[in-house]
Amino acid sequence: MEKYKYYNINNVGEEVIINGWVSKVRNLGGLVFIDIRNRTGIIQAVVRPDNKCYDIANSLGNEYVIRVSGIIVERENKNKNILSGDIEIDVNKLELINKSKDIPFVISDDTNALEDTRLKYRFLDLRREILKNNFIIRDKITYATRKFFHDLDFIEVETPVLCKSTPEGARDYLVPSRVNKGKFYALPQSPQIYKQLLMVSGFERYFQIAKCFRDEDLRADRQPEFTQIDVEMSFVNEEDVMDVGERLVASIFKEVKGIDIKLPLMKMKYDDAMDKYGSDKPDLRFGMEINDITSCFKNTSFTLFKNVIDDGGIINAIVVRDASSKYSRKELDKLTDFVKTYKASGLAYLKYNDEVTGSIAKVVSDDEINDIKKILNINSNDLVLIISGKKDIVKVSLGALRCKLARDLGLIKPGDYKLLWVVDFPSFEWSEEENRYVSCHHPFTMPKDSDVEKLINDKANCYSKAYDIVINGYEAGGGSIRIHDEKVQETMFKALELSDKDIEEKFGFFVDALKYGCPPHGGFAMGLDRLTMLLCGSENIRDVIAFPKTASATDLMCDCPSFVDDKQLNDLGLKINK
Ligand code: AMO
Repeated sequence: MEKYKYYNINNVGEEVIINGWVSKVRNLGGLVFIDIRNRTGIIQAVVRPDNKCYDIANSLGNEYVIRVSGIIVERENKNKNILSGDIEIDVNKLELINKSKDIPFVISDDTNALEDTRLKYRFLDLRREILKNNFIIRDKITYATRKFFHDLDFIEVETPVLCKSTPEGARDYLVPSRVNKGKFYALPQSPQIYKQLLMVSGFERYFQIAKCFRDEDLRADRQPEFTQIDVEMSFVNEEDVMDVGERLVASIFKEVKGIDIKLPLMKMKYDDAMDKYGSDKPDLRFGMEINDITSCFKNTSFTLFKNVIDDGGIINAIVVRDASSKYSRKELDKLTDFVKTYKASGLAYLKYNDEVTGSIAKVVSDDEINDIKKILNINSNDLVLIISGKKDIVKVSLGALRCKLARDLGLIKPGDYKLLWVVDFPSFEWSEEENRYVSCHHPFTMPKDSDVEKLINDKANCYSKAYDIVINGYEAGGGSIRIHDEKVQETMFKALELSDKDIEEKFGFFVDALKYGCPPHGGFAMGLDRLTMLLCGSENIRDVIAFPKTASATDLMCDCPSFVDDKQLNDLGLKINK
């Protein structure tokens, strides 16, 4: 078997055999033109009326499987849209290998078929060039990944898929055990525990392209079953791990897209990211940072803002440059509805033109208007959008608004990539549901050296040695230095209010293993699907997963999940409550 050939004008005169699918067939003035599709793309073949295969050519339907042999000739009407557009095959012989049923949608890149239909017939959907190319990119990424790690003496180790529940925080997919009735395996949310155990085993440099499973609410960048590039290293600090992580990403960008990523990547503290961008995954492809204008209103008589400040809240703004004439009252109302979905109580605005107008122009003072102008460096026709209230809500809603505005106003250059590390994550976050602090990452994340003392008494100000790599506003990967010191681990469990029984049941074996000469270690995991999505320029993770699930976690093609028969349930000792 040889490598694929991509024919063009230089191959004129060559005799070739082409296997593939009929993408389009038409009879023009007696000549039958067939567009044949295969892995290399589309190539046109022409069958003349005097050909003994003419009748077969005339009977072809879309997606029939054929083989043609003939001579490559230069085309009269060239097609600039395909690689082989300068040539066609003058067919000697045409064989019909297989027929196809009528297809449920036309196989073309700009299909308008509903996604549900495409997912039901995913095997046909994958025939589309645009999707096929995504998988070629995905393959290049995994290939570059393996090369990168092997060149650095990492070894690829597979870890179990049937395992004990891992502490990643999402809901587990459970698998009932037939042999041990009443007991369950969990599918791994990540190989976290195993990769740390491999460090205890002395493997020192591990990586794995690992399937992970999380039963959580799905979004455009989230699937219940996804793939991570998982990495763990011994005798390293935060800088070492981030260095490997960013070099991996840079080498993938170079191999796959030919793009040079400038290293080292910028690092931004979590608190600064939240402050300026209202997100722990800031999109740096455009400006419109969030500004604090609370100080402009310290003596305000505008009751709404006064009350917010008295309650310990903040007043923040973003400036949309040269846009005040672009936003009508109706559009601003729509933006208000948008921020309300992020729990903001409303959206105030000021339009700075010769005269200052806007929803609060009449209720705030001239001094306040001028202060804002000074702080925000306002020019004529700038639009200032303001949200007041509790800090978290203000930041997150303005953060989401800036991303929406950038998209609406076309501020994002196609093909632009902005990468950074977000560092110094808090160790804990407050859980309203559980009414206590829970781990921001997982309970094995090392706190900053200076914050070990704060684990018990000052959780709100305890930061960890954790980092995320962010690309164009997506969390592409993340990791941390792990706790290898038994005492720190004990304190961490105490901080999380885990009882000895909880610890023993959840990860007793793991905690025990850490006592047998555990090296200092740390690692990270890249979301392979997300990285592929970004490199393919897609905003839908399903575009880069061969057989993805819908937003309600179903596979429309296989009709899965599905009911199983009573015998299977009996074998497992299970009964379904109906
Ligand atoms: P984390 O949970 O941050 O870390 O996951 C690492 C990366 O995996 C991707 N990812 C997902 N992609 C698609 N669908 C999902 N449901 C999904 N969930 C996560 C993201 C994310 O950045 N064990 C740690 C890593 C470590 O500490 O080494 C972990 O799994 O791109």
